[in-house]
Amino acid sequence: MQTKENMQYFIKTFGCQMNEHDSEIIAGILDSAGYQPASDISAADVIIINTCCIRESAENKIWGYIGNLKACKYRKPGVILAAVGCMMQQKTLGELLQRQGRHLDIVLGTYQQHRLPEYITRVLAGEGPIVDISEDNSDFPDELPSRRQSSFAAQVNIIYGCNNFCSYCIVPYVRGRERSRDFAAIMAELCSLAASGIKEVMLLGQNVNSYGKDWRRQGRTDAPDFADLLREACSVDGLERIRYMSSHPRDFSLDLVDTISDLPKIRDYYHLPLQSGCDKILKAMNRGYNTDDYLAIIERIRQKTPTAAITTDLIVGFPGETEADFQQTLDFVNKCRFDAAYTFLYSPRSGTPAATMAEQVPLNIKKKRLQRLTMLQNQISLELNQSYLGRKVQVLVEGLSKNNSDFYTGRTASNKIVIFKGQPEQIGQIVDLTISGAKTWHLEAL
Ligand code: 5AD
Ligand code: SF4
Repeated sequence: MQTKENMQYFIKTFGCQMNEHDSEIIAGILDSAGYQPASDISAADVIIINTCCIRESAENKIWGYIGNLKACKYRKPGVILAAVGCMMQQKTLGELLQRQGRHLDIVLGTYQQHRLPEYITRVLAGEGPIVDISEDNSDFPDELPSRRQSSFAAQVNIIYGCNNFCSYCIVPYVRGRERSRDFAAIMAELCSLAASGIKEVMLLGQNVNSYGKDWRRQGRTDAPDFADLLREACSVDGLERIRYMSSHPRDFSLDLVDTISDLPKIRDYYHLPLQSGCDKILKAMNRGYNTDDYLAIIERIRQKTPTAAITTDLIVGFPGETEADFQQTLDFVNKCRFDAAYTFLYSPRSGTPAATMAEQVPLNIKKKRLQRLTMLQNQISLELNQSYLGRKVQVLVEGLSKNNSDFYTGRTASNKIVIFKGQPEQIGQIVDLTISGAKTWHLEAL
């Protein structure tokens, strides 16, 4: 029988940065339990798929991937297949598992991932498929190890779950209510990351602005908030850049902009998901702000830090979105002039209020709108990138460019990708470059 000491694991991650970091934690848990990372999937004795359900397109891709894993079972009959994460936490999963996931040995939701070693042991001992999507996280350990992907940039959880219930979004149903992570534990992690040479930290949560609100609701009036956490994070020597993901415009006060504006390690980059530039649609989305509120934040950012880059998320084809409503989004995007926008076709998610709203927009109209929005945004991105020509920037070097290995790639403080002629020893360092070229998606310093 196989023992865990000679067993290797492989993790395939779908979805957002929260999931990327969850996979780092799963790797850390398995390392601590004595398993070894596999160099590729064919060498693995345990294959873990960390899943995402934010849009139907993600789910289709994942079911395809899971389906293909059947072949691994034929090639290597003892291999253990585990699926974990958001998609597994959905209420509607049972039937699909019966149809498309019968070869999975372990299915864990978002609350039970720390149990993976225990369940692998049980499967090795002959237990049949195990499904645990319980929402009971009372014995969730406060601190978990993680195997970090990068030696110079790291992600740190600060708050789990989401209370917002935007009417299109599945996240509150699969990630539960907001739970802030202990302030001292976060700071200890930041200090230890800085000591190990990490230069950039991403503070993670579904809605980072809510940090500490759960404690204040419980009556702890002195509980720290997100601004406190940012100030404290900036005081950690060695950390050069602090980022956060994701924030919500409803909770992004002008005071918070003022706080960030005084923090050079943070102030050059804002990601502020707008979703729609039409007030009627924002209301139907239950976003809790209107375009005037949003514009006030943007104007304050530009007034305080004119060089800051601002990016956003936009959804096209939300139920009830007319051509005139969509035109308002185009007009508003023209007004805000984002550095970049992540644009999505609205995808109905079972169990969310928007999925059953009347007036669902046909797919062909959604696609045409997405195309128009992308064309407009690409033009704006290019123009804003051209304003960097001749400018000196500081770039944190990430490694060789994926598209052309003659060049290196890194990011400015404003999160712009820069392609340049570099040296291997610059990886993980911050270098001074002068921008000589500007494209829609990146800058060049050649
Ligand atoms: N359909 C399309 N896009 C969505 N997003 C979240 N839920 C949906 C959905 N049902 C987008 C939002 C969010 C980003 C992470 O994903 O724009 O900010
Ligand atoms: Fe996907 Fe959202 Fe879950 Fe991230 S939190 S993995 S984007 S469903």
